[in-house]
Amino acid sequence: MNLNIKLIEKAEKNHCLSEEELISILKDDSINNILFEAADRIRKKYVGDEVHLRGIIEFSNICRRDCLYCGLRKSNTNIKRYRLMPYEIIDLAHKAAGYGYKSIVLQSGEDLYYTVDIMKHIISNIKKLGVAVTLSLGEKTFEEYKAYKESGADRYLMRIETTDKKLYEELDPRMTHEERKRCLRDLKHLGYEVGTGNLVGLPNQSIESLANDILFFKEIDADMIGLGPFIPNEDTPLKDYKVDNFEISIKVMALVRLLLPDANIPATTAMESLNRNGRVIALSSGANVVMPNITEGEYRKLYAIYPGKICVNETPNQCWNCITGKISSIGRTVSKELGCREKRNMA
Ligand code: SAM
Ligand code: SF4
Ligand code: FES
Repeated sequence: MNLNIKLIEKAEKNHCLSEEELISILKDDSINNILFEAADRIRKKYVGDEVHLRGIIEFSNICRRDCLYCGLRKSNTNIKRYRLMPYEIIDLAHKAAGYGYKSIVLQSGEDLYYTVDIMKHIISNIKKLGVAVTLSLGEKTFEEYKAYKESGADRYLMRIETTDKKLYEELDPRMTHEERKRCLRDLKHLGYEVGTGNLVGLPNQSIESLANDILFFKEIDADMIGLGPFIPNEDTPLKDYKVDNFEISIKVMALVRLLLPDANIPATTAMESLNRNGRVIALSSGANVVMPNITEGEYRKLYAIYPGKICVNETPNQCWNCITGKISSIGRTVSKELGCREKRNMA
């Protein structure tokens, strides 16, 4: 039998793989379907058939950072910038709760307009709806994270992007790997459910570093892990770096499911932007979460991280109907719970 099939069987039982074992599986495309099926079984065993929907409000595309891969980077002058006012954000959350969302994600560039007091106002008002609130606002101080938590924020998403320190610091000018990790530590310490993740298929990213990304998620015991295929944006310095990252992203995601069986793992928007069936494929290969866009109007188009982003012309209502239809078409159900991670005994 192929050695990698044995490794997958081992990981399905004990949820451990070494760096060398992960590399060996990542390099072998002959076992992909076996890996995806194993991840699907583990998903079913540990987190069940329910899919958690998190409605995402992309409330500002203004960013003080300059990440080379991202269309929102401050040096991009080809993008029309916007920021939503607090009452607009709260209003979108109200509507989303009306559709049935139990969890709201607030995401933006690193926009300093939103002071701690403004964020506290937004978070505490959204919490009145009885939903879980997740923030994805980038790097902040311990005191800022603490203030958001005290206003009711439950979760925070911050991808490490890559555990290759040199690559990270090349791609994220004037940002340091130590600071990124400090943020993740502070968030854990403050009692947030912590989401992290990586970009898959970055220029000069090695298979070894992808294996280390997976081990990093396990080491920090991440509650949520979002894997994004890197999609080159024509308004960024990485515009000419064209590769097909879909399959390798699903592989990384399936391995994450084997190693962190009870984590929440989204079928990401970027996956569907590369493959029109991408989220259903991801949901059948280990994922148990989807994050539909609940921003309205032209802002959907203007949050242009990468090209070909899905749902830019739809309304939140259309997305709700679309995604709930896809979920039931594969025999899964939409969760009516907040969708917190439930830590499980790995025996
Ligand atoms: N500013 C916050 C941050 O960076 O954590 C949150 C917003 S940022 C747009 C959200 C995520 O978008 C990043 O963590 C990054 O992984 C992803 N992203 C940026 N550029 C991308 C690209 N070209 N392809 C795919 N994902 C991308
Ligand atoms: Fe800003 Fe986040 Fe994009 Fe970096 S990835 S430029 S921090 S929005
Ligand atoms: Fe937006 Fe399908 S989820 S159109």
